[in-house]
Amino acid sequence: MTAERVYKIGVLPGDGTGPEVVREGMKVLDAASKLCSFRYEATPLAYGGERYLRTGTVLTDEELEGLKRFDTLYLGAVGHPDVKPGVIEKGLLLKIRFGLEQYINLRPVKLYPGVDTPLKDKGPEEIDFTVVRENNEGLYCGEGSFEDKGTQNETALQISRNTRRGVERCLRFAFEYTRARGKRKKLTLCGKTNVLTYAWDLWERVFYEVAKEYPDVTTDYAHVDATCMWMVMNPEWFDVIVTDNMFGDIITDLGAMIQGGLGIAAGGNINPEGVSMFEPIGGSAPKYTGKNIINPLAAISAAGMLLDWLGEKQAARMIEEAVMFVTSKKIKSLAAGKMGYSTSEVGDLIVDFMAGQPQKKAVK
Ligand code: IPM
Ligand code: MN
Repeated sequence: MTAERVYKIGVLPGDGTGPEVVREGMKVLDAASKLCSFRYEATPLAYGGERYLRTGTVLTDEELEGLKRFDTLYLGAVGHPDVKPGVIEKGLLLKIRFGLEQYINLRPVKLYPGVDTPLKDKGPEEIDFTVVRENNEGLYCGEGSFEDKGTQNETALQISRNTRRGVERCLRFAFEYTRARGKRKKLTLCGKTNVLTYAWDLWERVFYEVAKEYPDVTTDYAHVDATCMWMVMNPEWFDVIVTDNMFGDIITDLGAMIQGGLGIAAGGNINPEGVSMFEPIGGSAPKYTGKNIINPLAAISAAGMLLDWLGEKQAARMIEEAVMFVTSKKIKSLAAGKMGYSTSEVGDLIVDFMAGQPQKKAVK
């Protein structure tokens, strides 16, 4: 007999279409729990633009502290049309990433069968890699200053802080991840050693130092501009890419586009020793709010990643297979309103497919 697996999940639907896609993700998670015999307690947390407009609060330090009682967090989307850009992003998303030390942002770039990519002559065989983005440091540290603000001599400084500890733990995660993924066992460091000679000197030194402990992993280096070029020209060259916060932000939007768009791209904010948070990487798409036409597959895939991280490998596999079934056999497009199904119908298709598959006995 295996011990009962019960997970405490904090659910943050967020703004715009966030609640609609999270509803489908939870529907799928619920189906997975029954099929794979684990339990969960979901606690809805109404943080986001709506509450901010009502109360003036985004996320207090006590509330942040309170998130530590969960096994994992599931986030819909942040960004509200009536709230100044940056307020919720900084006050909620970045506050959680930093406050819970989710120092990895894991973003798979995988083209599913049936999904259109803008890349000519590339298919699921060629587009399947993962970006490991440092998630707590770099230009996102928020440090900087103005000199002579408002004058013709104004200078704005924006600091990129890279600590040995922060860089090393990110690189170690990337090496471990590359090894465990076991695909081509190739890890590419994406940086800018030719110009940013402090930050990338540190990253490069630590990269080759840590690499010595992973002789089975092939290492490679590419400048960030060249990485963008190769992601478009030869995406099959990549297995795992590790990079800093800012470059990771940029190249994963490019990655989302080559895998079919923000309707399908999911990611995890990971603290391997603490509480992680999984999210669809697209925004809140406010203009589609309440219409039941937004694509929930990114949120559903994020729920799959969440379960994978919790160790529910079979459930995660089932969800991914169901997503591939829906992309290849059901929906016409990933775009909102063009799927041929409503948001909730896509969730139902996933659940029906999962239920119709012959179930293996739950494995721990
Ligand atoms: C992302 C987003 C965030 C980021 C914003 C909303 C702060 O673009 O998750 O990639 O820059 O990290
Ligand atoms: Mn981004």
